[in-house]
Amino acid sequence: MQATTPQPAQTRLRLHRLAGEGGATTAFAEDVRRGLTSHPKRLFPKYFYDELGSLLFEAICKLPEYYLTRAEDEILSRHADEIAKLACEGLDEFLFHDEASRDAPKSEPVTLVEFGSGSSAKTRRVVEALLRRQQSLLYVPIDISHTALEAGAHALLDEYPRLRVEAYAGDYDAALARLGEGREERGRTLALFLGSNVGNFEAAEAGAFLRRVRGVLSAGDALLVGADLKKDAAILEAAYDDPLGVTAAFNLNLLARINRELGADFDPRNFRHVARYDESAGRVEMYVESKRAQTVRVRALGLEVGFAAGERVHTENSHKYDAAQLSDLARGAGFVAARAWRDEANLFSSNLLVAAAESEPTRS
Ligand code: TRP
Repeated sequence: MQATTPQPAQTRLRLHRLAGEGGATTAFAEDVRRGLTSHPKRLFPKYFYDELGSLLFEAICKLPEYYLTRAEDEILSRHADEIAKLACEGLDEFLFHDEASRDAPKSEPVTLVEFGSGSSAKTRRVVEALLRRQQSLLYVPIDISHTALEAGAHALLDEYPRLRVEAYAGDYDAALARLGEGREERGRTLALFLGSNVGNFEAAEAGAFLRRVRGVLSAGDALLVGADLKKDAAILEAAYDDPLGVTAAFNLNLLARINRELGADFDPRNFRHVARYDESAGRVEMYVESKRAQTVRVRALGLEVGFAAGERVHTENSHKYDAAQLSDLARGAGFVAARAWRDEANLFSSNLLVAAAESEPTRS
């Protein structure tokens, strides 16, 4: 690589705050009002990730029972170079079965986009692999937590002088609207959707989301999707309910956040964390459960909420996939499933999808 004077990290970062970002109190207040007055009660998982919640999630990722992060990191450490090569060469070989209609593979620099990047810890495997192939890299992380986003971006920029970061703090809707605008400048793109992010959508929502991602990509661009695999209920329930209570603290922090930001008087000790695997639905369901009959006031909403003993507030589903479901999901959203890798213990999968041509997958 050519020696150029590296620019200071601060000049290589642009952080945009979008609508739907965690700091927008009015949307949070409205969603809490709606969720706590619904039957059954529910709260949205995107609100887990305030500053404390983001730190608790990072602690979850270090728990021995939460195998997902390590399994995915194992896959990325082993296959990042292959992923980078496939993304940089475009993926015509998976789109055009007839050799004559393929362009000869020609390596081009890619822009790296990531949905739900958090603190970008696993992303460095892919960043390093891309920087082995290209002079510089533009990384576009998107996350609801601006604190995790900012910390992650600074850590990466300090480490990689040939990296630039254009970060978007906000929800996926707002970010997708922005990404639709910058499509030309990004050029060939590798998008990441790691962890069990896709699993937090219902099946139909996952399809709709991937279709919108397809809409901001060009044919031949790549999307790497992490998916946790169906497995024994005991392993899954341990991953979502650890003996130290870190996962419980993460889930209950949602109530504590409502106290902090909306002046509520939840006593988190009066609620317990519940995680159960529904095998037929193929998902771990998370709730906070009221230990006794109680009334909670939410001052900013002028709201009193009654809870029966044993009543549950749904907070998140984490769907587990198998290979067939993943390729159906890809196809339905306008992608071709090109490659899939698993960790040694067969717990988790990383799936490289190629954005298919808009209409017929043939070229004149
Ligand atoms: N998206 C993560 C997952 O599905 C989030 C998560 C881990 C989570 N543990 C949790 C969400 C416990 C709610 C409760 O794996």
